[in-house]
Amino acid sequence: MRPKEVVKGIYNVGVIDWNIRDFHGYSTERGSTYNAFLVMDEKIVLIDTVKKPFAESLLDNISKIVDPQRIDCVISNHAEPDHSGGLPDVMARIGMDKPVYCSKLGEKNLRRHYGDGFNYQPVPDKGEMTIGKRTFTFLETRMLHWPDSMFTYDKTDRILFSSDAFGQHYAGQEMFDDEVEPVILFHQAKKYYANILQLYSDRIAKLIETVAGLKIAIDMICPDHGVIFRKDPGRIIEAYKTWSERKPLKKAVVIYDTMWNSTVKMAEAILCGISDEGVQVAPYSLRSVHRSDVMTEVMNAKAVLIGSPTLNNTIYPTVADFLTYMKGLRPVNKIGAAFGSYGWSGEAVKVIGGSLEEMGIELIDQGLKVQYVPDKENLKSCYEWGRKIGAAVAASCE
Ligand code: FEO
Repeated sequence: MRPKEVVKGIYNVGVIDWNIRDFHGYSTERGSTYNAFLVMDEKIVLIDTVKKPFAESLLDNISKIVDPQRIDCVISNHAEPDHSGGLPDVMARIGMDKPVYCSKLGEKNLRRHYGDGFNYQPVPDKGEMTIGKRTFTFLETRMLHWPDSMFTYDKTDRILFSSDAFGQHYAGQEMFDDEVEPVILFHQAKKYYANILQLYSDRIAKLIETVAGLKIAIDMICPDHGVIFRKDPGRIIEAYKTWSERKPLKKAVVIYDTMWNSTVKMAEAILCGISDEGVQVAPYSLRSVHRSDVMTEVMNAKAVLIGSPTLNNTIYPTVADFLTYMKGLRPVNKIGAAFGSYGWSGEAVKVIGGSLEEMGIELIDQGLKVQYVPDKENLKSCYEWGRKIGAAVAASCE
């Protein structure tokens, strides 16, 4: 049940969204949370709000600690509506004249969402604010993952309120990292990184360096989604460092859709060939596996193989969907190739190859296609092709 005490005087007054399963195209099979933090000091501060439909629940949670009208100000670390949608309802309750602290770009973005009616107070990067025994430092984190994003660091409690960074879409009564199985927690954190932050990896690497340079002690990380890291905040920072480097593993992914079971037969033979070269490999049918789960596996794979039958002189719609999604997330350090069956024209392999090249993925060759149904000889060719790809992966990861 919320609210829950994070440390003495700081409460998570956010909400659990148990049943959300699609978060703007990302599959949230474990639901999510929108965390918001009430800090009770000489001044009473609310850090972030929640999605609009949950605004009343947020205010109910706050009311269990303090009359919302006693809140002195709001800090908005991020303008995306899952954290600011409740702001109009909150301000209406606490008083429209109360300050809303945000980054400079936060002011701009909040105005674009909610108009000019709030008392916006933009703060500079590394600006400070004392609220009693606590002092906050604001750290701009532009494009992580919106232009307005910032962190708020509580110097007194050594807590980093990190907005989306270090988040996970995970709904549960458990609120801390030591209450969740690490394998589940870090899978969700990796999926979040792969689908939300991957394209900003260079900025994340720099940010980690900057924060390390500030030599601030971090005892706890409070993200706006999922659990709070109190047992081992260093572990998630290390994980981000590793993910941001985007060094591929000796791993391939075979991603495909199929029309009359020919492309899937090719995929299975290719997979056997790759595996026989000692490379970790798994198949992902785009009909069954969500694009965001596939993308999580793509993130640390060296080779990306994409298969599609030719349909109406081009690729299958599910494959087009995935290629568009992957392109946006800008994977790097990868080799790739296309394959697929066709009836009479066979454009799919060329279309996929062009798309992979546009993403900067180095093509292993011009791809492999089979007319109608692969026979024994065709499947042998697929297997050998897989071995060639496996050998290329193994060689690049030595
Ligand atoms: Fe969780 Fe970028 O919002």
